[in-house]
Amino acid sequence: MLSPSYFFTGSIPAVAGFRRNCPQIPTIRIVSLSSSKYVNDTNEHYFCRKSVNYWDKFYKRHKNKFFKNRHYLEKDWGNYFSVTDEDVNAKVLLEVGCGAGNSIFPLIAAYPKLFVHACDFSPQAVTLVKSHSNFSEAQINVFLCDVANDDLTEKVLPSSVDVVTLIFMLSAVPPNKMLSVVQNLKEVLKPNGHILLRDYAVGDSAQVKLEKKNQMISDNFYFRGDGTCSFYFSEDFLSSLFIRAGFNIVDINTYCRQMENRFHNISVQRRWIRAIFSKP
Ligand SMILES: C[S@@+](CC[C@H](N)C(=O)[O-])C[C@H]1O[C@@H](n2cnc3c(N)ncnc32)[C@H](O)[C@@H]1O
Repeated sequence: MLSPSYFFTGSIPAVAGFRRNCPQIPTIRIVSLSSSKYVNDTNEHYFCRKSVNYWDKFYKRHKNKFFKNRHYLEKDWGNYFSVTDEDVNAKVLLEVGCGAGNSIFPLIAAYPKLFVHACDFSPQAVTLVKSHSNFSEAQINVFLCDVANDDLTEKVLPSSVDVVTLIFMLSAVPPNKMLSVVQNLKEVLKPNGHILLRDYAVGDSAQVKLEKKNQMISDNFYFRGDGTCSFYFSEDFLSSLFIRAGFNIVDINTYCRQMENRFHNISVQRRWIRAIFSKP
């Protein structure tokens, strides 16, 4: 069992247990499978074409047991969800790629006035959210949507959302579709609205493992054993993506944590990126 063993302090005191200035990342060998048996005439990789099927299988198999509830969202970004005396209306949140609801249920418990739109392209995920004991139609509008291909404004009013959360979601999208996703989100955000993102960072131990197993699709993008895909972000890549879509960068940092497996006597490094972007 992996357990966190080292706690680092960085220059962001609010994020105890993580550090910003991560050491040199391991060298990643760049081998693309783009000419392999997985690619069809349209040059689209098999696991990208089948992404929705594999995520749906994932939720059929794991139900809501795979991810833990993400209570750190309130700690890290509480001010984006809470209402002040000056706010006339409750805050409106859109959680994209909501999965089984591990981000939204802790948030509605902590902020009872929050209104949440939540979407996922997996029908199983949407069913899991609707069947959660804390689900309330008055507070949560959950719907099926492939944000890389469907127009979000058909489900959510344009310029009506205060905050969008992307929690380990954008990494599941093929890199050539990420810009369309971000542009889609921009349409539903209010001016001065924010996107809060937490996701995998380049050099994470899971990336090193996938690399060794030769499961690369393209630079920093891989398929896992269960058929789902994952991208590993650098700050440069993520910043450029959001700047191209017309966002401002409020904050962007990489965090790492050394995890030790005493039984196997190995130590691995987990890396995450956390960022805030604002719509002008
Ligand atoms: C790692 S899970 C994160 C779940 C959730 N955000 C959480 O905090 O637990 C990634 C989610 O993104 C969803 N997803 C991937 N691509 C998507 C797309 N194009 N449109 C909508 N949802 C997508 C998957 O079905 C999956 O539920």
